[in-house]
Amino acid sequence: MKVDIEQYEVCFPKFPYGSIISNRSMAEANESVPSNKTIDQPWIGNASHHLPDCLIIGVRKGGTRAVQHFLSMNPKVVTNNIELNFFGSDDQYAKGLEWYLNQMPPAEPGQVLIEKTADYFQAWKAPERIHKMNSSIKMILVVRDPIERLISDYHFLQRYAERKNVSDFFLETKFSLEDLLVNSENGHIRCDYGGLYRSKYSRFFVNWLEWFDLQQIHVVNGDGLVNDNPATVLRPVERFLGLPSYASERDFYYEKDKGFWCLKASGCLGDEKGHKLPPLRPDVMKKVQAFLKPFNEEFYNLTGINFGWK
Ligand code: A3P
Repeated sequence: MKVDIEQYEVCFPKFPYGSIISNRSMAEANESVPSNKTIDQPWIGNASHHLPDCLIIGVRKGGTRAVQHFLSMNPKVVTNNIELNFFGSDDQYAKGLEWYLNQMPPAEPGQVLIEKTADYFQAWKAPERIHKMNSSIKMILVVRDPIERLISDYHFLQRYAERKNVSDFFLETKFSLEDLLVNSENGHIRCDYGGLYRSKYSRFFVNWLEWFDLQQIHVVNGDGLVNDNPATVLRPVERFLGLPSYASERDFYYEKDKGFWCLKASGCLGDEKGHKLPPLRPDVMKKVQAFLKPFNEEFYNLTGINFGWK
């Protein structure tokens, strides 16, 4: 069923208000990846720099770090540790492909090199630029219930602003999430709030499908990383990448206090990943659910996956 989204679309702002931080700051905001073989190992032998074979393109706060980190257990996977936002930022892109290449960790023949920048997904020029680099590249998109995502995004931006002492520049430190989402005077959804904008997945996905076949983008259900053993999510990703399966349920344990899955070998992702967050006020929740519903349905149609978000 094709959803007529235009009737619901109040606005699709080019520059949504709130929550915009620069590409490099965002990279810094994501704490460095916990140590693992791909990042700290001194490279010897046949390793060389090459452009990525695969990109993790988003969504921001979808669980991209968990997917990247868990995947990098596989000896055939090499990943970057800092988000470069090369394809998403004009400034970064202006540095040129050779600069980008030089940022890549060396990879040995047979290893899959993955670059992750969670903000690629909503960057309008990213698909075209990536296509220009490699039109047959594989991509991984980690999505999550879009309301959970925006709650996580809001709290992340609050923590970021406080840590960097830049609270004055962030609406997230001045207003409750409810006030950012709904105008309390007239009860209307504030559709130009950045957090909500980034949760309209279908709006961005159509742009990716302008440039790439659906088969090139493996969509991961990020909720599955929390509700199930992550190995169940990782195995199809390994298949998509043409890798022998490495992930096993035995590699993970559920850390009750944190409420997330962690690796037996190296523990949990750091403090910046995995929070218990307050839910939205029920009246606001209802409005946001109604607002996002057509976008969710369009996203199900585009991906062929019904995520069952409320
Ligand atoms: P919160 O920190 O708000 O809970 P990303 O890496 O794309 O920024 O996504 C971060 C989110 O990944 C976290 O948001 C958390 O909900 C989710 N996540 C999924 N699995 C996780 C895990 N095993 N450990 C920590 N966070 C995990």
